[in-house]
Amino acid sequence: MRIDKFLSNLKYGTRSEIKTFLREHQVVFDDIRILSTSFEIDPNLDTIYLDGKPIFYKYPIYLAMNKPCGYLSANHDEKYPCVVDLLKEPYNRFDYAIAGRLDLDSEGLLILTTDGAFAHQVTLPKSHVPKTYEVLLDRDFDQHVTLRQGIAIKDGRNQEYTAHALVVESKSNIAWITIDEGKFHQVKRMFEAVGFLVLKLKRIQIGKLKLNELPSGEYVEFRKEELYD
Ligand code: URA
Repeated sequence: MRIDKFLSNLKYGTRSEIKTFLREHQVVFDDIRILSTSFEIDPNLDTIYLDGKPIFYKYPIYLAMNKPCGYLSANHDEKYPCVVDLLKEPYNRFDYAIAGRLDLDSEGLLILTTDGAFAHQVTLPKSHVPKTYEVLLDRDFDQHVTLRQGIAIKDGRNQEYTAHALVVESKSNIAWITIDEGKFHQVKRMFEAVGFLVLKLKRIQIGKLKLNELPSGEYVEFRKEELYD
């Protein structure tokens, strides 16, 4: 890969700005200062130094984040802060696909990855990746059987759809529900369909990957195998 592409992919400037960047900064590979924008490197093998410090580069990156309420599961928005705004150096230099969005007012486990194929696979309905949610309801829950047998809800296109819970457990007004579908507002709509209001919704597991004690707004790297192990 050309050095100008490498550096602009990592948000050090546009391809044309990198020409000046190379003059103003010490960009070094193998003790050689790079001044030509067309200098070829292999980002997966070569360590490039910027002003004496190695540039962090990795592909792919898999991040498990504890999304806080009030953040959009998106890369950019005019109105609301986005989950990528929570990323710090060096992770904020990469472009991420988000696998399985959470609503603005939902929290919990969210996957951000630079591996687009993996994000697609996790999100694809036919992959049937189970997701578990902890739900705070307006009163004690008693409709486990109905949710397991299937309940009619509207999907994102306002089409009627029978949604099934794989597992539903509860303790007074807290329920834990596992689904392997991902329709628009599915969990909220399933509980609403049986007469309960969702006050709080937190995703605690995707596949085998658990949120555990990850603090709100924080993120950790994981191996993609951890989703299936
Ligand atoms: N179901 C919902 O209703 N909201 C979410 O954020 C996720 C699943």
